[in-house]
Amino acid sequence: MTAKQSERAAHADRIGALGARVRFDQVEKQYPGGAANAVDGVSLDIAPGEFVTLLGPSGSGKTTTLMMLAGFETPTAGEIWVDDQAIAAVPPWRRNIGMVFQNYALFPHMTVGENIAFPLKLRGMPRDEVTRRTREALDLVGLPGYEGRYPRQLSGGQQQRIALARALVFNPRVLLMDEPLGALDKQLRERLQLEIKALHDQLGVTIIYVTHDQQEALVMSDRIAVMNLGQIEQIGGPGELYDEPASRFVASFIGESNFLDGRVTGFDDGLGVIEAPGVGMLRAPAHGGCAINSEVALTVRPEKIVFADELNGASANTIDAEIVTVIFVGEMHRYEARLGGGQTIVLKRQHRSGVGRCGRGDRVRLGWHVADGRLV
Ligand SMILES: Nc1ncnc2c1ncn2[C@@H]1O[C@H](COP(=O)(O)OP(=O)(O)OP(=O)(O)O)[C@@H](O)[C@H]1O
Ligand SMILES: [Mg+2]
Repeated sequence: MTAKQSERAAHADRIGALGARVRFDQVEKQYPGGAANAVDGVSLDIAPGEFVTLLGPSGSGKTTTLMMLAGFETPTAGEIWVDDQAIAAVPPWRRNIGMVFQNYALFPHMTVGENIAFPLKLRGMPRDEVTRRTREALDLVGLPGYEGRYPRQLSGGQQQRIALARALVFNPRVLLMDEPLGALDKQLRERLQLEIKALHDQLGVTIIYVTHDQQEALVMSDRIAVMNLGQIEQIGGPGELYDEPASRFVASFIGESNFLDGRVTGFDDGLGVIEAPGVGMLRAPAHGGCAINSEVALTVRPEKIVFADELNGASANTIDAEIVTVIFVGEMHRYEARLGGGQTIVLKRQHRSGVGRCGRGDRVRLGWHVADGRLV
């Protein structure tokens, strides 16, 4: 057993179980008076102890999905399962699900200790056990001895840590977090991201996390479900979504991407060949949806594009371009280049010695390995 596994096993011994499996089966939610479904046929199978993030733009149904799992909204169709139990008939307080929300504020008139103890008292736990568990929860989030403070005496980051302690204090098997770091500044957010991840490793609780920050999703998640208009557009590991986006929406939502419009003219050894007006013939791995003559986009990440003379060996696309803007971002230069047909692409090059630069107005020949593009 690794150290992490034995730590988890010890924790499991104490609380009787680790994270639960969570399953959404064709779940829909239509709010009264709402035109479209806020959640529209979501199916999702989350393994015990997994960290899954719902990522999507405002209004895509992320919070509604969590609320149905927590029991504060009722699905209009479909079923949600926690382990082997369909939870439709289980009231919220019996679901054993912890929650941390951006605006799920602490009770201002209660001390930190009383805030954390609140869910335990609801469950009728004896006083000395409440005290012990509250202390353990504060240790867990790195704020030992804070029992007597009031929320207004804490920084934003400390308040969210206390909210986390309150969500974890009753050893829930599932933890829901809805934009828990949204109100914090970038540095603090990044630190708490790592802390939450470490806690997840330590406790083995199943976490469903909501954010619309793609960087946060990439850093934290075992898997990311990209939501759009109430549906899951794609689900997969961070690397998979980044490298193999199934749609233009996913490619544009996760990381920066170029899209070169063109028409499919044929297929060649698993590759789709497209003609991009004014640019020429380009090749990229194709997937099921692409038919001859269909209008598609070739998507390629800015960091994959290099000067053509830097391409080594592997099969590549090359294009002529004129640099129209140069921006220094710190660790890299970001160039925008105009292509023959008027389309533009962005490329990023590391800022270090040995990496060639170019300037505005330069005419350059650019390229990327065929395998680094994708037709969507
Ligand atoms: N209580 C409600 N009554 C009616 N419509 C609602 C209600 N809550 C949400 N909606 C609608 O359902 C859709 C999904 O909302 P939801 O809050 O789940 O989105 P979200 O992905 O969490 O967005 P955000 O990133 O802005 O928090 C939206 O169109 C919203 O207007
Ligand atoms: Mg929301």
